[in-house]
Amino acid sequence: MKKIRATITAIGKYAPERILNNYELEKMVDTSDEWIRSRTGIFERHIAAKGEATSDLASAAFEDMRKRFGIDPEEIDLIVVATITPDMFFPSTAALIQHNIGANNAFGFDISAACSGFVYALAIAAEFIENGRYKKVLVVGSDTMSTITDYTNRDTCILFGDAASVALLEPTEEDSGILDYIMKLDGKGKDYLYMAGGGSKNPATHETIDKKMHYIYQEGKAVFKFAVSKMAEVSVDLLKRNSLKGEDVGLFIPHQANKRIIDACVSRLKLKDEQVMINIDKYANTTAATIPLGIVDAYDQGRLKNGDLLLLSAFGGGFTWGSVLIRWSL
Ligand code: UT7
Repeated sequence: MKKIRATITAIGKYAPERILNNYELEKMVDTSDEWIRSRTGIFERHIAAKGEATSDLASAAFEDMRKRFGIDPEEIDLIVVATITPDMFFPSTAALIQHNIGANNAFGFDISAACSGFVYALAIAAEFIENGRYKKVLVVGSDTMSTITDYTNRDTCILFGDAASVALLEPTEEDSGILDYIMKLDGKGKDYLYMAGGGSKNPATHETIDKKMHYIYQEGKAVFKFAVSKMAEVSVDLLKRNSLKGEDVGLFIPHQANKRIIDACVSRLKLKDEQVMINIDKYANTTAATIPLGIVDAYDQGRLKNGDLLLLSAFGGGFTWGSVLIRWSL
């Protein structure tokens, strides 16, 4: 029997209308366009409207996918949502999306893996397809980072943006789709990147609000070092175990947290600039949405050709990290 793989058969994206650029941030905190661009590669980011939540962003991304590829939501079996900014603790964002888009025959759940959320979700979704259980799995990366960002703190407020992007996975017997992946987790990262308030450890009180515990905390320098070494390491391991080298990669789509992190990974993987997708200038770090946004933008720019090897790699809070190898066919 031929091996069944999960392949991406449709994609879509959504970024909120409002754009916040570096010049506006210069008026909000002690920063400069020059600093932000040279230290991160970011120029602008999209910010959700008041009341526009993570499930709304994701539903809009699904609508984009439906318009492009004519997907019937009733055919979706499963919805896997990667987010760290769910609309609320419960019900899950998957439930809200399922209701919004009319995926009346789907079950679903959220996963929390921060910036690695989309690659984790792809790995999970691929297993459900490869074992023959489901035929259409919607994988969502959606985050409304502006809702947990302190716009008086220059360390973090320049870094993040809001967006959602989706991919539909279906079975194929061709030699395409998700070929392999490696996922990693190291809870030592809990001290470097977190939001302390609102959970069972520090339930929301006036004190947690006064202490700004409902915002992202990050030790940028430490996270930077881990991100470079771990994303490069896991990508090299994944290529090696598939007897591949950097030169075999058609397109590398890394998590977009900092252009300098991407550049360092690219040099460790010995890739050329034309093998790398970068759109951090337009969106900043949209957490679980960066990688699927990169896929959609690369597709729209004609940079994904059938048969190309696509290497995805992410690193985020937890720490979480992982890489996925895909033979593109869409
Ligand atoms: O996606 C999840 C994973 N997250 C990441 O991968 C992010 C990883 N970290 C980073 O991307 C970088 O560490 C940052 C962009 C957060 C910071 O860049 P850095 O090169 O590590 O800068 P730094 O924190 O060492 O700060 C350098 C200087 C400091 O001033 P002094 O002490 O040298 O006088 C900071 O106070 O830059 C100052 N600074 C700023 N200046 C202008 C820090 N933030 C800003 C700012 N504008 N926004």
